[in-house]
Amino acid sequence: MGLPLAAQFAGHGWTAIAYDISEAVVGAINEGRSHLVEEPGVAELVAASHAAGRLRATTDGVAAAREADVVVLIVPVKLDAAHQPDYSHMDAAVDAIAGGLHEDSLVVFETTLPVGDTRGRYAARLEAATGLRADVDLFIAFSPERLYSGAVLRNLATYPKLVGGLGPASTERAALFYDSVLDAEIVAMSSAEAAEFSKLADTTYRDVNIALANEFAAYADRVGVDIREVIAAANSQPYSHIHQPGIGVGGHCIPVYPHFLLSRAPELTLVARSREVNDGQIRIAVDAVREALGGLDGAPVLVLGLTYRHGVNELAYSRALPLVDALAAAGARVSAFDPLLSDEEVRSLGAEPWMWGTPSDARAIVTQTGDRRWPMLDAAWFPDLAILVDGRNTLADLALPSGVRYRGIGVSRSNQIPSVPHLAS
Ligand SMILES: NC(=O)c1ccc[n+]([C@@H]2O[C@H](COP(=O)([O-])OP(=O)(O)OC[C@H]3O[C@@H](n4cnc5c(N)ncnc54)[C@H](O)[C@@H]3O)[C@@H](O)[C@H]2O)c1
Repeated sequence: MGLPLAAQFAGHGWTAIAYDISEAVVGAINEGRSHLVEEPGVAELVAASHAAGRLRATTDGVAAAREADVVVLIVPVKLDAAHQPDYSHMDAAVDAIAGGLHEDSLVVFETTLPVGDTRGRYAARLEAATGLRADVDLFIAFSPERLYSGAVLRNLATYPKLVGGLGPASTERAALFYDSVLDAEIVAMSSAEAAEFSKLADTTYRDVNIALANEFAAYADRVGVDIREVIAAANSQPYSHIHQPGIGVGGHCIPVYPHFLLSRAPELTLVARSREVNDGQIRIAVDAVREALGGLDGAPVLVLGLTYRHGVNELAYSRALPLVDALAAAGARVSAFDPLLSDEEVRSLGAEPWMWGTPSDARAIVTQTGDRRWPMLDAAWFPDLAILVDGRNTLADLALPSGVRYRGIGVSRSNQIPSVPHLAS
């Protein structure tokens, strides 16, 4: 996300210096190239900004910060194995730029952080390293990056930009900076903590909402109604915004940030339970395959879609990874296909590559993304197929031989009469 931001700033008249530890990233930018694919408009903006002399890159954080009036930090904070925030990249980046900060520097954290970290973890660290005082002669703010991969420049133009500083002076300076580089509305918030929390609230809301949709889908399965019809009807009430169920939630935002909240607020049991529900969708899919095949030992199973979302070449927290692992652990012979991944990449994830359109001995197919090409699957390629698990509910209309079972997430094919169990009165 850092490069589109740098290009956006340069495109609005600032001189942007991209600091990164990757020589490859720095080298590409200094040749006027974007290392990002699949981000419409970014390559052109990078090339134009570089050609205009307003965008360059360096691996020297101190020199970059010394020259800069504003430092925007957007290196990742991930999760460690215990689901706690892993600050290693951000700590290193903060330490790397601290030596170049000077009186009146503005430092903005855009990376999603647990509530309190801008002030408690990083302002304290920067004050100690620089001898400057936050909100007096060093200005520090949090401003969450809320962009959606694949649409970042469009989002930058329209998404309101939330800004919360350590104090009023920091908020004001950060808001003024963003006003100069964005055409979107700038929302000055009362504190860095409120801004931090807003990003966690937005993403966690979506995770909890999807968990509810997944529970509704399980109930829809039980009573034989189509959850898509139910959700569409429910959402015709303007206050209802039920999301869609699926095989799980991937990517580096939605499954991660609920854990940032929980790391500070373990009493948020609904948040914790939602994570369990969404991660448990894999088990439901694996159980469906096991039941249909009468066991998984030696069973050939094809997984379609390995990236966390179709069209985004990103494996972070993709639910395909535990899906492949769970199938393999149960003894299945797993093959896989993803239009964005090479055979080598597929192999590295523990599956044998399958080539689109070739015959396969798969007895089960599980789709993990909603790729637009899946509706073009031809059942003739899979003469032994017994079950299709439609993990994103995009294949309910796919033509399948009568012996092949279809299992969506809350979507069944049989036009059966709903079977609501009667309660004894
Ligand atoms: N990608 C998204 O869809 C998205 C959306 C919204 C918000 N965000 C936020 O952006 C953050 C970064 O995400 P991303 O997708 O840009 O990550 P990324 O992994 O694509 O890029 C991170 C960059 O940081 C560099 N880096 C790592 N450690 C460094 C250090 N110590 N000093 C300098 N550079 C360093 C890496 O070399 C890499 O180029 C996320 O943690 C999240 O908070 C991302």
